[in-house]
Amino acid sequence: MRSKIVAGNWKMNKNMEETEALLIELSAKLPDTKAEVMVAPTFVNLAAAVRNLETSRIEVIAQNMHFAESGAYTGEISADMLLNIGVDTCIIGHSERRAYFGETDEILAKKVKTALEKGIRVMFCFGEELEDRKSGNHFSVVESQLKNALFSLESSDWSKIILAYEPVWAIGTGETASPEQAQEMHAFIRKTISEAYDGSVSNNVSILYGGSVKPGNAEEIFSKPDVDGGLIGGASLVSDDFVAIINAI
Ligand code: 13P
Repeated sequence: MRSKIVAGNWKMNKNMEETEALLIELSAKLPDTKAEVMVAPTFVNLAAAVRNLETSRIEVIAQNMHFAESGAYTGEISADMLLNIGVDTCIIGHSERRAYFGETDEILAKKVKTALEKGIRVMFCFGEELEDRKSGNHFSVVESQLKNALFSLESSDWSKIILAYEPVWAIGTGETASPEQAQEMHAFIRKTISEAYDGSVSNNVSILYGGSVKPGNAEEIFSKPDVDGGLIGGASLVSDDFVAIINAI
């Protein structure tokens, strides 16, 4: 179901004490908002984060999972392990997973399938690289990322999908897509989904923008009609900044 969402992807940052301290700060400062607020700490701190936030409305989500049910996959985490500690939403397809860990559309399609079979909500990330945008291929790249990983899903599966458009050139660079660029792409994404499925699927999916969202630019980006919130990296590591971004929605 389409809703407003602000999620913090903490990536490989914050040790145990720092995680706890940030969660305490966020819980204390969390504004009264209808938006869903989520944080994705590292795996080693996930279970503690769930316990820390037991009485908070901040949801703890995972940054990644494996597609296999269990077995000889050293270093990996399964869907059941996430569910077992109370995590039922997972980021899949982050550009850093694609770029540094060789995650292809094919692998991501398998992860999405397993997540949905297990009842895990998927926050699916995708977005073009700088060369794609410079050469004018950004729409076709995004279309194929969506098609390859998601378009074999049933319409009913889409109630468990959140999309996060993150242009790679805007991640951690300080260079944000302009609100107009974000809106243009989000409208394109909705049109593409509506053509592959129908308007009820495309109008009901939340599409977040990610890439150098900061307190100073969040409000303008979030004001665009097809932008339903943000996936925040660096700024989600500082409680005042993350809270300001939540306030912007
Ligand atoms: P930054 O907000 O640091 O650019 O990171 C965005 C991101 O990758 C969130 O998943």
